Amino acid sequence: MDEATLRSEMVRLAKSLFDRGFSVGSAGNISAAVDGGFLMTPTNSSLGNLDPDRISRLDADWNHIGGDKPSKEVFLHRAFYKTRPGTGAVVHLHSTYATALSCLETTDPDDCIPPLTPYVVMRVGTVKMVPYATPGDPKTGDLIRALNGDCAAVLLGNHGPVVSGQDLLSAVYAAEELEETAKLLVILKQTRKRYLSDEDVAELKARFS
Ligand code: 13P
Repeated sequence: MDEATLRSEMVRLAKSLFDRGFSVGSAGNISAAVDGGFLMTPTNSSLGNLDPDRISRLDADWNHIGGDKPSKEVFLHRAFYKTRPGTGAVVHLHSTYATALSCLETTDPDDCIPPLTPYVVMRVGTVKMVPYATPGDPKTGDLIRALNGDCAAVLLGNHGPVVSGQDLLSAVYAAEELEETAKLLVILKQTRKRYLSDEDVAELKARFS
């Protein structure tokens, strides 16, 4: 995809996320790989109202070379591209239910999203949680790098989800799937649930990963 088309896609998908309440105010940020570097949503911008010409442009070493100042979360995006070869996009949201799980003491930090439905296994996989750090703290990048690329999606403690994908559309779809599964988990929290079996999960991973 050429850069102009990718800019338009970022504007379209970010607005779609915003319009459906997956982000509010100026929360959330998105990056995507482009020839010779990266595009990233500017800091303090609303995902509902991006200007394609003002999206931040960074070179391959993450130097800011065009557009508005990039998101302060550049460190956490960078960690996914570094540790997961083939990453084409990263989406960070403060979507309500995934953020709720990131605040619950009962969430297992090594497996935040148990296999409730097939699509969360297929599109998201195992989700781990990293401890809370101040937004924009480079420490978050270190915490994600320490996972050695094991997870396409991570919850930031008391903050929200970060999801990577091979391209922008699949990262957005995975972020949506993660949020909807988190919602089911919160809704079903007080009731006994049936999870997919280990065999079901293995079959899904073999067929769709
Ligand atoms: P930016 O406005 O710098 O992208 O930060 C928003 C955010 O979601 C912080 O986690």
